[in-house]
Amino acid sequence: MSKRAAVALVATAMAVALTACGSGGGGGSNGAAGGSSGKLVVGFSQVGAESGWRTANTKSVQDAAKKAGVTLKFSDAQQKQENQIKAIRSFIQQKVDVIAFSPVVESGWDTVLKEAKDAKIPVVLTDRAVDSKDESLYASFLGSDFVEEGKKAGEWLVKEYQATSEPVNVVEIQGTTGSAPANDRKAGFGDVIKADPKFKVVASQTGDFTRAKGKEVMQAFLKSQPDIDVLYAHNDDMALGAIQAIEEAGKKPGKDIKIISVDGVKDAFTAMADGKINVVVECNPLLGDQLMELVKKVKAGEQVPRRIKTVEGVFTQDQAAAALPGRQY
Ligand code: AHR
Repeated sequence: MSKRAAVALVATAMAVALTACGSGGGGGSNGAAGGSSGKLVVGFSQVGAESGWRTANTKSVQDAAKKAGVTLKFSDAQQKQENQIKAIRSFIQQKVDVIAFSPVVESGWDTVLKEAKDAKIPVVLTDRAVDSKDESLYASFLGSDFVEEGKKAGEWLVKEYQATSEPVNVVEIQGTTGSAPANDRKAGFGDVIKADPKFKVVASQTGDFTRAKGKEVMQAFLKSQPDIDVLYAHNDDMALGAIQAIEEAGKKPGKDIKIISVDGVKDAFTAMADGKINVVVECNPLLGDQLMELVKKVKAGEQVPRRIKTVEGVFTQDQAAAALPGRQY
């Protein structure tokens, strides 16, 4: 073989290898998967491990990736936006095929999302949204409607107290400050209860979606608020932490203080069956299969909906015991 022919052969081989590695782009030729093994490579930046919901969500995504033959590069941000930004930059450097992430907070993503766009790596949001005005920065958002969840919580409260005109004092334990679920669950709930002035949110503070902080915040509320009728917790873990605080204060959760929670993890269903939580608004963490389907379509350059909402219900105490054995998380 002449020297010139040999050089041409090496150049062709290198070009093929680069294509197989998935050098980015919104969908390789015929939507073929990238990665040296030919598998689709997805960089997934998870919020953390702050709640039972999150643990179930992580497992769902990891299991679904295995099942779908997707190579998942998983990164745990430990509830810190700067860690997620680092992870996304690292995924860009590694030239993954698609980046999926569940943003810790809503704001401050435009710069890094622009970097992904410039590198032609499509981004899919899962579970939580960003407040970016530029819709070209991500392909799709798969997850719950948190405003709707807040509204469902408010509607339960309105119905529960429809027979009384006495004031109803509510304390609220919010999720992570600046996160979509905290912002939206607060807004949806507020929107519904504002129609009746008897409902008063007498205290509202963040419990960062964790059991320990939920307990801490509830302890503080019990000291500062002489008359609490209802606790609205933005997730189950914080409600479960608060239950400990209420019991330690010698009160009966679910009776002396009614409890509204969001998520629907098994522990919350057990507490509901025991009469300690009054209602749980469901938020489904089992997004893995849908996410894998979505990233494959995005990589293949197919049209996908901008917004895919999860279907969810509301569970009350009378349904808890029957529903408990069927709960998957
Ligand atoms: O984004 C979903 C929320 O995040 C869940 O309600 C909560 O439990 C989690 O930490």
